[in-house]
Amino acid sequence: MNTTKYRRLYRLCSQNFGCRMKGTSSRKWLQRQQSDIYVKMARAENWRCRSAFKLLEIDDKYRILRPGQLVIDIGAAPGSWTQVVCQRTNAAGLDNNSPKGKVISIDLLPISKILGACILDCTDFTSQDCQDKIIQNSDGRKADVILSDMAPNASGMKEFDGRLLVSLVSKVLHFSVNQLVTNGTVLVKLWQGSGCDELSDVMKELFSSVKLVKPKASRDDSREIYFLCQKFKGVVHSSGNS
Ligand SMILES: C[S@@+](CC[C@H](N)C(=O)[O-])C[C@H]1O[C@@H](n2cnc3c(N)ncnc32)[C@H](O)[C@@H]1O
Repeated sequence: MNTTKYRRLYRLCSQNFGCRMKGTSSRKWLQRQQSDIYVKMARAENWRCRSAFKLLEIDDKYRILRPGQLVIDIGAAPGSWTQVVCQRTNAAGLDNNSPKGKVISIDLLPISKILGACILDCTDFTSQDCQDKIIQNSDGRKADVILSDMAPNASGMKEFDGRLLVSLVSKVLHFSVNQLVTNGTVLVKLWQGSGCDELSDVMKELFSSVKLVKPKASRDDSREIYFLCQKFKGVVHSSGNS
C-alpha cells in the first residue's frame, strides 16, 4: 500500500474546510454574544432576544404602541417584539384600567406561546392563505400598527439578499394598504442597498411621515435600518373619498 498517498488523502479529508469555517464563525458569534450588553440585558429582563431593545427604543421615542391597539407582528420568531407589543398594548388584559389590545404574530418558524398573542407560526407571510388567516383573526378590525422585522436566510450575496428583503417588505406595504387604519403606522426592516430608495418613495406616497431609524441596539456593522411610516393616508377610492 502506498502509505504516503493515503496519509495525504486522510489529511485532506480531516481538514474538512466547511466545518473549520463554520467553527470559526460560530466561535466569533459566541464571543460577540457573550460580550454584548443587549444580550445580557435581554437575559436579565426576560426578553426572548436582544431585538426587543430595538423596538423598545423606537417606541420610547416615537410612541407608536398604545393599549387597545391591534398590532400585526410579521417575522416574529423567537418573539421578543411580540413580548414588547403584548405588554404595551395590554393584549393579555392584565391592566384592568386600560383597553385590551390584540396582537397577531406570524413567522415561518415555530414561536412558543406568549401571553396575549395570537400566534400564526410555521407559515409564510407572503402566501394568500397566511394573509387570509390574519384577516380572519382580526375580528373585523383593521390594524393600528403593522411591524415587519422579517429577514430572509442570508445567502451571503448582499445584493441578492437585499433585493429579497425589498420584495418581502413590498408585500408588507401591499398588505397594509388594505389592512391598516387611516393614520396607522408601519415599521419595517430593510438592509441598506439597492431597492431601498425606490421603496422609500412608495412609502412617502402612502404615508404623511416616513423616517429612517437606526436604533442603538442595531449593531453598527449591520446594514439593517428601519423605516418608520406614520400617518397612513388611507385608501383613496375612485370617487375621491378615503
Ligand atoms: C430577525 S428575526 C425576527 C426577530 C423578532 N422580531 C424578535 O424580536 O424575536 C426574522 C424572522 O423573519 C422570519 N421570516 C423571514 N421570511 C418570512 C416569511 N416569508 N414569512 C414569515 N416570517 C418570515 C424568519 O423566520 C425570522 O424568524
